[in-house]
Amino acid sequence: MKTPSKSCPKASPSKSKGSSCLKVIKFLLAAFPSVVFGVFTIVFTVQQHITGIENRKQDQKQADEQNIRSTFENYIDDISNLLLDEKFNRSNSEHLLHIRVKTLTTLRHVDINRKRDIILFLYESRLLRNDVPCNERLSLQDADLDKLTFQGSSSNPIQLDNLYLPGVYLSNAVFHWCILDYAVFDNSSMANVRFINSSISHVTFRRIYAPDAIMGDLVFHENDFTGSMLVRTSFVGGTDWKEEVDLTNTDLLDSRGNHGQLINWNSVPENVLILVNARLPNGSFHQINSTELISDGGAELGCQTDLTENAWKRGPYGSKIILSPISTHPSISISSSNENCYFLADSLNASSLTQLIDVHSFSVLIHNEQARYNMSAYLTCSQDKSSEAWIKLAFLKNNYLWIDSHKVHTNQVKPRNIFATTGNIPSYTRFIRVELHAYIGESYARCVFDNLRLRIF
Ligand SMILES: *[C@@H]1O[C@H](CO)[C@@H](O)[C@H](O)[C@H]1NC(C)=O
Ligand SMILES: *[C@@H]1O[C@H](CO)[C@@H](O)[C@H](O)[C@H]1NC(C)=O
Ligand SMILES: *[C@@H]1O[C@H](CO)[C@@H](O)[C@H](O)[C@H]1NC(C)=O
Ligand SMILES: *[C@@H]1O[C@H](CO)[C@@H](O)[C@H](O)[C@H]1NC(C)=O
Ligand SMILES: *[C@@H]1O[C@H](CO)[C@@H](O)[C@H](O)[C@H]1NC(C)=O
Ligand SMILES: *[C@@H]1O[C@H](CO)[C@@H](O)[C@H](O)[C@H]1NC(C)=O
Ligand SMILES: *[C@@H]1O[C@H](CO)[C@@H](O)[C@H](O)[C@H]1NC(C)=O
Repeated sequence: MKTPSKSCPKASPSKSKGSSCLKVIKFLLAAFPSVVFGVFTIVFTVQQHITGIENRKQDQKQADEQNIRSTFENYIDDISNLLLDEKFNRSNSEHLLHIRVKTLTTLRHVDINRKRDIILFLYESRLLRNDVPCNERLSLQDADLDKLTFQGSSSNPIQLDNLYLPGVYLSNAVFHWCILDYAVFDNSSMANVRFINSSISHVTFRRIYAPDAIMGDLVFHENDFTGSMLVRTSFVGGTDWKEEVDLTNTDLLDSRGNHGQLINWNSVPENVLILVNARLPNGSFHQINSTELISDGGAELGCQTDLTENAWKRGPYGSKIILSPISTHPSISISSSNENCYFLADSLNASSLTQLIDVHSFSVLIHNEQARYNMSAYLTCSQDKSSEAWIKLAFLKNNYLWIDSHKVHTNQVKPRNIFATTGNIPSYTRFIRVELHAYIGESYARCVFDNLRLRIF
């Protein structure tokens, strides 16, 4: 008996079965070339397909690269020709606008190396500099400079002093070993920006939006950060605070130092850092500017003038509240000491006087709903039932849209009094309008306001 063929281990020992096994083998052998060919074809096709994709990717990449290069070259040629043209006039706003439009479009279509080259080109052409007259500066407001990278070295720092880049998108940008003295970055949006080992004396960063920024090995000297958002910023390496750095109204929540610890700003000498209205790393506000906000709240400066140069503005009514010398009137008494004038409403019907107060420098405090006001005033009317005087505070957004009003004082409750009222300032308030209102119902009646004071605390 034959032992079953190794290639057919499961075949039974019977002869007939053995021969059918042989047939299968023969068939397979016969089919082998076409099977091999088939497999080869499939493999080859798949591989060709992959190579095709890769080639096309390669081609696409080359085409993109070619596109970027020609966009860039066209741009540089175009602007160079313009700059060399004898008709070109740096202080002609239309010429600058042409460059601005070209630049913004080009910046959208190039890679980060070309972005850097474009900025350098414009800077070296003296169009992006803070030390040329205002009307010769190119505005790149809203330009997309995301990931812009200037990478110098200790022996060869990049010269960018007086660089003028306000109002641009600089997220993830890097300034490493750069000389940036007197540069302007105001209003720029620069989340994750890195300023490292650079010289930044006199650089202004007003109202920048820069959460998660890294500031490493820098000497701060005469820098202005007013109104900036610096949440989670890391100040690392040998950071030093030399002379007057203005951090008024900045948000420093969670800002950290070398070993990830919250910065103790109190350890920096007080005459170096200005931290008025700033939110400290632990969320507290240390110094709030509580100076008087109302100008001429005693009617002394505008006394008997037509108010054109005064902070007070008349309301829309025909009747007027006037800034009048204090007179003795039988129906009202005023206990003034060394003052000469007050606000007087003595004509029939409604009258008003308003003053708009800008509170942008309290925006962080207000935004975090920690701002309160304290309004006080002297307010009185002659004692007839038909006359009334009141003070209203209107809270307005930065576009002057109304948010809320508080009627803070009225004389109808208690005549002849000095009120001090406190309340919360709604979030998003950027202006407070102080409004003096009077309604005189009888011809002999009159109302008086004096010593208006408004403070934020
Ligand atoms: C340049 O343009 C400004 C503003 O349009 C104009 O005042 C000035 O005279 C022009 N200068 C020259 C040299 O044409
Ligand atoms: C920044 O924005 C403010 C408010 O919009 C504006 O008054 C100021 O001129 C801007 N600063 C620069 C340098 O463009
Ligand atoms: C600044 O440069 C020094 C010297 O090259 C280097 O040791 C240091 O790490 C750099 N600082 C940062 C924050 O990278
Ligand atoms: C917050 O930090 C400041 C110093 O940075 C410190 O004086 C103050 O006591 C801290 N406040 C709280 C509530 O921890
Ligand atoms: C406080 O605010 C007033 C008026 O808004 C301003 O003149 C003064 O410089 C501010 N003081 C500080 C310390 O910022
Ligand atoms: C006061 O208002 C009444 C009605 O509203 C009007 O008839 C009258 O003329 C007004 N008087 C003055 C002095 O404006
Ligand atoms: C509000 O201001 C008045 C004086 O203008 C003062 O007497 C009073 O203590 C202040 N109130 C608060 C809560 O600060």
